[in-house]
Amino acid sequence: MMSHIHAFLGCRTPDAWVAAALADQETLLIDHKNCEFKAASTALSLIAKYHSHVDLISMMSRLAREELVHHEQVMRLMKRRKIELRQLSAGRYASGLRKAVRNHEPVKLVDTLVVGAFIEARSCERFEALVPHLDEELGKFYFGLLKSEARHYQGYLKLAYQYGEAKDVDQAVVRVREAERELIESPDIEFRFHSGVPAFS
Ligand SMILES: [Fe+2]
Ligand SMILES: [Fe+2]
Repeated sequence: MMSHIHAFLGCRTPDAWVAAALADQETLLIDHKNCEFKAASTALSLIAKYHSHVDLISMMSRLAREELVHHEQVMRLMKRRKIELRQLSAGRYASGLRKAVRNHEPVKLVDTLVVGAFIEARSCERFEALVPHLDEELGKFYFGLLKSEARHYQGYLKLAYQYGEAKDVDQAVVRVREAERELIESPDIEFRFHSGVPAFS
């Protein structure tokens, strides 16, 4: 499964990002918690928007529940570690990827699903990059999440091919892959779960 994800993504997480994450695990966890919430909230808004797409609704309903469980798990871990919740602005990643989404249907749905597949695949790859360096508790937790994100990646991609034309989906994958790679490999002044190469001191 990891080899599929590595082949799907346009690049690997830079070592400098892993170093920044290990150095600021508090921000990592707070932003990770926010990402889980956003994953659930995106799934719910897709249900509201595509109210006649039965398979999409079934997957998104299950996904929203699962992401909310992850959200609660991160909250519990933060509580054990006495990490206080604080307001953290969203990084540039999701809004950057949204720019690659065409704004007319039915291709808007295709692009949205492809973007979802990339976010899940990148999350999976980042958990994998972090796991060997983490303490036992966080390492075990992230190893479990890595497997869920791999499943979510597959789910999003499958729906994209179900609701789109294969050739168009292939092209959307190429386009989003390039935009995603750029966000991961270019300098980023903020550290977040999906940030680029750390450009701060
Ligand atoms: Fe998740
Ligand atoms: Fe996920």
